[in-house]
Amino acid sequence: MEDELMRIGVSIPAQLLSEFDAIIKKRGYSSRSEAIRDAIRGYLLDYETFNQTEGDQVGVISLMYNHEQRGLISLLTDIQHENAQIITSTIHIHLDTSNCLEIDVVQGSARDIRAFADKIIVQSGVYQVRVFVIPTPHAGNENSTCADDTAETM
Ligand code: NI
Repeated sequence: MEDELMRIGVSIPAQLLSEFDAIIKKRGYSSRSEAIRDAIRGYLLDYETFNQTEGDQVGVISLMYNHEQRGLISLLTDIQHENAQIITSTIHIHLDTSNCLEIDVVQGSARDIRAFADKIIVQSGVYQVRVFVIPTPHAGNENSTCADDTAETM
């Protein structure tokens, strides 16, 4: 099923690579290449699952970033302002002298939440982005699990 193998060169911070190597050793991978192929397959699967979500959602987007990265804070603030209509609240935690944890509580269409998350994920200096969404429990949403479908929704 696999087609021909391609060789690529990738630059990875030494610390990140050493953590990755430690895990794949524990798991028993015979080669780093196989572990990287699996990691990429996992990435594709996550993306696919994320992309298939539809309808109104509530969710949490968490991200860590290095605030010393030039221009990053201003860029993230701009992205958040552009998406103010779906951000319910933001929590910011200063983790150490250079790293921040931010949690955005979001509410809106899956499409809008996805577009917002994608803008954050690709920024250099941003890492460990996690997106958790669940359908909003109100009438009109096929995945509704709310016992009271007459509940008001804003
Ligand atoms: Ni901070």
